[in-house]
Amino acid sequence: MKELVENLKKEAIFFKIASAADLEKYRLQFLAKKGKLNEVFEAFKTTKLENKKEFGALINELKNELEEKYSVFTKSLINNKTENELAFDLTLPGDSRKLGTRHPLSIVQNEIISIFEKMGFIISEGPEIEDDWHNFSALNFPENHPARDMQDTFFVDRGYALRTHTSSVQVRVMENQKPPIRTISPGRVYRNEAISARANCFFHQLEGLYISKDVSFADLKLTLFKFVEEFFGSGTKVRFRPSYFPFTEPSAEMDIYLGVDSEEDLRLTKGTGWLEILGCGMVDENVLKNCSIDSQIYSGYAFGMGIERIAMLKYGIKDLRQFFENDIRLLDQFKI
Ligand code: PHE
Repeated sequence: MKELVENLKKEAIFFKIASAADLEKYRLQFLAKKGKLNEVFEAFKTTKLENKKEFGALINELKNELEEKYSVFTKSLINNKTENELAFDLTLPGDSRKLGTRHPLSIVQNEIISIFEKMGFIISEGPEIEDDWHNFSALNFPENHPARDMQDTFFVDRGYALRTHTSSVQVRVMENQKPPIRTISPGRVYRNEAISARANCFFHQLEGLYISKDVSFADLKLTLFKFVEEFFGSGTKVRFRPSYFPFTEPSAEMDIYLGVDSEEDLRLTKGTGWLEILGCGMVDENVLKNCSIDSQIYSGYAFGMGIERIAMLKYGIKDLRQFFENDIRLLDQFKI
């Protein structure tokens, strides 16, 4: 019996397995029902009782070894297979990775940012859920100003709302930094407006703020002229119209001249050729006071523009909602 076990062990050890077919042969020869291991088990049945313990242990050991060899080779064959599959065929065409595109709003926003960065403006950001102070009160909105009304503002909870403009970020900057301050705040803002081709309940703004000694309206104009020249091209005609914002005095809106060459121009400019692109003005004294900036020493200007409107102009996009549908056919056109 001992000899039988030893011989079978040797035979199994020397059995060469180099392929899946060999492995199967091994299994049939040793481990299958009609294999040699079972023959040994059969023989074991007839051994004398007093030998059963010793031989039983030997046979169990044999069984473990034969099965171990089988499982080791099974694993290595699987590994080899994946290695083969991984082997490179250098003649195959490569996997082409499709590059994503930047969203048109991001492209325009980045372009505007880089123009102002060149002029020394630093980006600042703030929360989209804002308290009444930063969004309204500090900005000199009277207690019952219509902009605070439910019609325009999404209130979140008592005292908190989704910011309606990024001027709120500028209040935070003024509260935390000493002049001179030269900052731009790009970001998403929310207004409770009916969704249409020209308006949405959220959109993007970029607002600018400059506070220093002896800042005048001429500084504001120069900065904005420069921006228009860089973004829309030199020779673009602009004009300032008096306007009103609670946080600036005097206030103005800036228009650029599109012309009246096409139906489109006529519609967009309501027949005048002029299109409003931003609001601006000199920071109201009350706002400076609210942010603990001495208005006897410092003055400043602020401006704010909607990124969607500028992107629509730049790319001839007629419906603002297209920016938020994420239709690949639109986005794909903005490869840079
Ligand atoms: N905050 C204004 C708006 O949301 C824009 C603005 C900014 C106007 C700064 C003047 C000065 O419409």
